Amino acid sequence: MSDATDARLIAQYEAYPYPRRDPRDEAKRLIVGSPSHLREIDHWVFGATRGTDRPLRALIAGGGTGDGTLMLAQQMASAGRPGTVTWLDRSAASLAIARARAEARSLSNIAWEQRSILDLPGSGLGPFDYIECCGVLHHMPDPAVGLRALVSVLAPGGGMGLMVYAPHGRTGVYMMQDALRLLAPPEQPPAERLDVARRVMKQLPETAWLRNNRNFDDHVNGGDAGLYDLLLNPRDRAFTVPELHALLASEGLEVVCWVEPIRYDPIPLLPDPRLKARAEALDPIARAALAEALAGNMSVHIVYVRRAAEPVARADPFADDAVPVCREVTGDTLARSIGADGRMILGVDGLRIPIPVPPQAGAILRLIDGTRSVARIGEELAARGIKDDAFRKAWHATFTVMERVNRVLLVAPSGG
Ligand SMILES: C[S@@+](CC[C@H](N)C(=O)[O-])C[C@H]1O[C@@H](n2cnc3c(N)ncnc32)[C@H](O)[C@@H]1O
Repeated sequence: MSDATDARLIAQYEAYPYPRRDPRDEAKRLIVGSPSHLREIDHWVFGATRGTDRPLRALIAGGGTGDGTLMLAQQMASAGRPGTVTWLDRSAASLAIARARAEARSLSNIAWEQRSILDLPGSGLGPFDYIECCGVLHHMPDPAVGLRALVSVLAPGGGMGLMVYAPHGRTGVYMMQDALRLLAPPEQPPAERLDVARRVMKQLPETAWLRNNRNFDDHVNGGDAGLYDLLLNPRDRAFTVPELHALLASEGLEVVCWVEPIRYDPIPLLPDPRLKARAEALDPIARAALAEALAGNMSVHIVYVRRAAEPVARADPFADDAVPVCREVTGDTLARSIGADGRMILGVDGLRIPIPVPPQAGAILRLIDGTRSVARIGEELAARGIKDDAFRKAWHATFTVMERVNRVLLVAPSGG
């Protein structure tokens, strides 16, 4: 299914491949994030039960200039994990950039497919154990049809990492899109529209909501591609929590993790006990919707999903042989972020969420390195005089909260 708007979307990503990337920068840094961080896939999608020797067949659908593809392929290569990451997108210009970035890293575990997501059913591609679709469904003529095409190539027991726009944190974006549509209608050539948008950015009225929205800088620092994608995109729509839940349910999918889980919990935002009781009485989706509406700062939703009929089996994080790992920064860095008052502050899009942690959390976090088991951490702490039952209690509290902020996860078991 295609339409005139979709044809403009194709033209946009040929003229302004997104996001703007320079392959030379691969020598300096790897861009990491959610979804599709290998540690998140291991933990959230497969419950830390899928062996590291099992090849991972991954599809990055609407891969753009390659951020998700490069991150996952590099993380798999660095960890010696078998499998292939398939980049798929319609945009030839994006393909050229993504490929050059992969070449700069000498990655040989990527397959390239220049085609539409809508052509996946019956394409012979797949099945895939993991599918990413980040920032794409909300541009499609019918997101449910796009999602269905992805589900058609999802292997049994597999899962997906999705990102779609969320409305409240995009306050100001749609107003500015309306304004620019009047000044530079979508029928006009992209370069002309871009020129108009650039001029408008130089004289935004002081009351324009976009000016007060701290969630973005694509229109300021994202180059032509960033400005076009944010404010001149021929089609984008945003999903509230209940809307995304309904979209997923329509295709038989269920969220296994909203990233970060704590952001979707209204309780830390409502210390008043009477309000807390009311919030606790709500069903899980209503609670997440309440957190979204209260915080008002979510500009995207990132979710890991599986078929509702295939709930994830999770490894026990409190078992002796469980091996915790910090998602990105080291345990030492996490430990150092604990304040004198015994709280960590999670800063997310302008919102500061205080996270109380137990007194032993710092010592535990410093021992988490992705190889030590829970039992071994307990033994090392016992040698410093911390009794086993005190450690178990502290580990329970520490892991529970650090998982909710997506900072400490479990490693996948070695083997097949
Ligand atoms: C906003 S970019 C996101 C790129 C990348 N996923 C990221 O997050 O950095 C949207 C991408 O989706 C691609 N796209 C849109 N509709 C598509 C379709 N039907 N099939 C394949 N790719 C599509 C565009 O070409 C573009 O590269």
